[in-house]
Amino acid sequence: MAVRAAETGVGLENLDLTRMTCGWAKPMANRNVRGGELRIGGRTFDRGVGTHAESLIRLRLPAGPVRLRAWVGVDDAAGAGRGSVEFRVLGDGRCRWSSGLMRGGDPAQRVELDVTGVRELVLRVTDGGDETTDDLANWADAVLETAGGAVETLEPIPVEAREIRTPPPVPTPRFHGAAVVGVRPGRPFRSTIAVRGERPIALHAEGLPAGLALDGARRCIEGRAPADSGVYEATLIASNAHGVARRRWRLVVGEQLALTPPMGWNSWNCFGARISQELIEATARAMAAERLHELGWTYVVIDDGWQRHPDSDDPALAGPERDPRGRLLPNRRFPDLRALVDTIRGLGFKAGIYSSPGPITCAGHTGSHGREAEDAAQFADWGFEYLKYDWCSYSRIARGTTLPEQMRPYQRMAALLARQPSDIVFSICQYGVGNVSAWGRAAGGHLWRTTGDIEDTWESVRRIGFGQAGLDLFAGPGGWNDPDMLVIGHLGWGQPLRPSRLTPNEQYLHMTLWCLLAAPLMLGCDMTRLDDFTRGLITNGEVLDVNQDPLGRAASRVAVRGPTQVWARPLEDGSVAVGLFNLDEEPMEVEARWSDIGIVGAWSVRDLWRGRDLGASTNGWTITVARHGAELLRLSPADAIASNSPPRVPWTWEADARDRR
Ligand code: GLA
Repeated sequence: MAVRAAETGVGLENLDLTRMTCGWAKPMANRNVRGGELRIGGRTFDRGVGTHAESLIRLRLPAGPVRLRAWVGVDDAAGAGRGSVEFRVLGDGRCRWSSGLMRGGDPAQRVELDVTGVRELVLRVTDGGDETTDDLANWADAVLETAGGAVETLEPIPVEAREIRTPPPVPTPRFHGAAVVGVRPGRPFRSTIAVRGERPIALHAEGLPAGLALDGARRCIEGRAPADSGVYEATLIASNAHGVARRRWRLVVGEQLALTPPMGWNSWNCFGARISQELIEATARAMAAERLHELGWTYVVIDDGWQRHPDSDDPALAGPERDPRGRLLPNRRFPDLRALVDTIRGLGFKAGIYSSPGPITCAGHTGSHGREAEDAAQFADWGFEYLKYDWCSYSRIARGTTLPEQMRPYQRMAALLARQPSDIVFSICQYGVGNVSAWGRAAGGHLWRTTGDIEDTWESVRRIGFGQAGLDLFAGPGGWNDPDMLVIGHLGWGQPLRPSRLTPNEQYLHMTLWCLLAAPLMLGCDMTRLDDFTRGLITNGEVLDVNQDPLGRAASRVAVRGPTQVWARPLEDGSVAVGLFNLDEEPMEVEARWSDIGIVGAWSVRDLWRGRDLGASTNGWTITVARHGAELLRLSPADAIASNSPPRVPWTWEADARDRR
């Protein structure tokens, strides 16, 4: 809605207040947010807008001279000394005026501001740095004086340019994905080597243990793992017309799998339970066509909806849940699971499947209760290499909510999986109930969901992502906190697909944080419809390398300053990955101080998203970070780079893994 200025200008109360955000109730024209008269510091105003922190209205201003006049303050209805807010006026992303902290009873403050030349004006009320109780905030007598042009109310979420930060891939060979891989003694082994660069690339391996061989054409190491536990080290060499890359590759034979966080795709966020063999196959083919295996994307996981549905009248889903021998039957949308698994494998990926320890899954399909042994064997027999095991209806079975009862179904399935002739990564899903991070590994999980289901909203990503603070100690090779799947690209949960509702900067923040957290990276979007922006988000080798770093240390939150946060994690080569986050509604300077990270001396700074060296510093690095945005840096000891000497931080994977056992 655009409102043309009368002689006295445009009153804020006449604008489209349905587009104004408000932390409680809704904005009121000429009244406070509770419906009473607008009063600030004992003074009554006839006109204006009563709102409640956090609140924001975004306006498009006309060309020509524009002035903002207003009185602001906490409404007297809050009570003297109660509530605490800050009024801020932003012009094209920059703060033009701030009230400082105001409380109930404070006299109204006058705003008199020339905003000529500003295109987008934001009137914002913050919570003043605490929570929002009694934060009744008034923009009283608020008028935009223009030379007659219209003032337009915009959506509160800004339209951001879909900046593609990821540079195009370089032609020289580069390895990505897991450089350290776990396998049980004597088990069949197959691992796609993630290597990028201009084709043709010649691949060689030196020092592979007996029983394993490299298939250079299929870019895969295959065979049977050694019978003896231990770390087997080899060198992979990739060469093409532009150069040579070498990778130290370690096979860790023992009881641990998933030595780096699993990366892949899962059907749920995209298709919900409306899945079929064709959809999954089309996904795997699209992932191969996008060459995602060259970056370490590995699993194609079928989530809920592949089994029969005992209560459904849909003939494709109805029918016997198991065959006469008790074996779980897929529904008619999956005519040949074994063939599907083979296709996925042939494309260079691994297949994953889903079940529940309860009698039915969350979407009402058949679960594994009472048939765990048959199902574990069946999954292995079909060739699946990953199982997501979702609590769902298990509450009907559990005898209470004690820790042993919570662990029991997972321990049982983990033990059964470990007995199968081939390795299966085990994903625990029980929505983060009962501090699962502390026992997920002991229950046999290789990853465990730490939260309820994620959504493609800022609120969800912020709450879940930053809510991981403090869980880093539980993550490490063989066991990962899982803050749920990625919500980028085209999503839909079974409804018509639509682009993620996250803004571009929120999507950078999401990927940056998940990589730092050493979170499993599970895409949840339609892979047949990747746009250039999403492609950039998921094909940045340097960013993904942080997630897959062999040291496997999840980032910890090292600083919180107002709405900004800094997270850091040490990497195996002695460098440090650092995330600078801005949770605010406007761009903010975020400072990573070396003292926060616990490092001293000169460190070189690389911008990982843009693949650019930024310089070096002895005390810290500051970047202006976009609203709800993030930057990802890699710090390397500057003197080590200059002298080519090894890094001074003596982290090694073996020592670290030992400490964690
Ligand atoms: C739960 C899980 C989701 C998904 C659905 C399937 O909600 O948390 O990730 O697997 O069940 O029904």
